[in-house]
Amino acid sequence: MDSIVIRGGRSLHGDVPISGSKNASLPILCASLLAEGKSVFRNVPDLRDIRTTSALLRHLGVHVEQTPGAVTVRNNGLTAHEAPYELVKQMRASVLVLGPLVARLGRARVSLPGGCAIGARPIDEHLRGLEAMGAHTTLDHGYVDVYAPAGGLRGASIVLEAPTVTGTENLMCAAVLAEGRTTLSNAAREPEVVELAKVLIKMGAKIHGAGTDVITIAGPSTLNPIEHSIVADRIEAGTFLVAAACTGGEIRLKGVVLDHLTALVAALRRAGVTIERDGAAVVAAGKPPFAPLEISTAPYPGFPTDMQAQIMVLMSLGAGMSTMAETIFENRFMHISELNRMGANIVQEGRVATVSGVERLQGAEVMATDLRASASLIIAGLAAEGTTTVRRVYHIDRGYEAIERKLGALGADISRIEGNL
Ligand code: EPZ
Repeated sequence: MDSIVIRGGRSLHGDVPISGSKNASLPILCASLLAEGKSVFRNVPDLRDIRTTSALLRHLGVHVEQTPGAVTVRNNGLTAHEAPYELVKQMRASVLVLGPLVARLGRARVSLPGGCAIGARPIDEHLRGLEAMGAHTTLDHGYVDVYAPAGGLRGASIVLEAPTVTGTENLMCAAVLAEGRTTLSNAAREPEVVELAKVLIKMGAKIHGAGTDVITIAGPSTLNPIEHSIVADRIEAGTFLVAAACTGGEIRLKGVVLDHLTALVAALRRAGVTIERDGAAVVAAGKPPFAPLEISTAPYPGFPTDMQAQIMVLMSLGAGMSTMAETIFENRFMHISELNRMGANIVQEGRVATVSGVERLQGAEVMATDLRASASLIIAGLAAEGTTTVRRVYHIDRGYEAIERKLGALGADISRIEGNL
């Protein structure tokens, strides 16, 4: 397993290109199962999760070709309906083939994703929504089997208990081929849901309300393959904003959609970070100590849970006491113990972390546990005095394209050590 070594204390300066969104690319690639023919998706980030999704689509009988920045999908009919444990265990977002498979083939067999480092990650809402459309679901040795009714899925009025992002995406994909109108209430409002709806509409679907908490889909639609360029990754952009501020630097982000980051930008500005539009780019500058913050993560447009670990580094370099409440996942604080080993002063009580600002962080050997925790440790290493070695960086490769190259180009002293430990 590779490690990343950082010699901290250098401020970041310069331009950084933001890659396409991982969490928009995954449901969109899975939605290509819905239409036969050749689809081309551009600005797809080159990430481990994208390669896993490509492997899953190939397993289902679809031809996938990855070239730099683009993925071409040739769907000449599906030859399987199963998402095997081998692939789902690598990436729980594989569950995103569920809706398209049931809609297209009338059945799906998907390994239950199981939990992951940050929480139990159930898919009960996905299954309840499909059942409302007439599907029958059974649990069989760690797999869930889903069968559409004889005449195919039927439109339904569905109220989600939690505004689940992939649940909303799965059910939207299922509904576009269902007979009749589907209403998804308490739907997720994330920009990635909006991007998927845009793609489905381009394919021929009739969808209204994406981005609000009530999405209506009129089915069935005849769907055609399309070309589409994926929206920028708001979480990668947010990660660079926080990294620039924590190192006392000033960077210019290209390709970012600032309107997708309103809650994060508001928090950073409260902390004393300046963030301005510069034409189509965004310029961010800041330096410690930051004003303390009180934040609770929330579904979009609230503060994103995917930025919680990263902004905790900025809180650690604050001039007072900050608090972070993680309301989405039950175990998303594993970065705290590693940050404390770097000199941070964070106390966790259940889902609330109290962060007392410190003068400096110290470089250390630390262990990545999940994708966004890895990003947090890298930011801490950039800001710390001395050398930080982040082990198990395969976590970070899931969600950040060439992160050490991008940070190096901004002046960071950072390198990757190939390793087998
Ligand atoms: C998506 O995960 C993202 N992944 C996550 O990003 C992100 O953290 C999360 O949304 C929240 O914003 C992708 O889009 C691929 P949820 P998802 O279903 O859809 C509960 C990253 O770092 N819930 O919105 O799996 C669940 O337990 C990843 O890029 C149910 O109870 O998240 C959680 O507490 C990590 N039943 C809450 O809802 C369900 O059927 C939100 O989960 C589904 C979810």
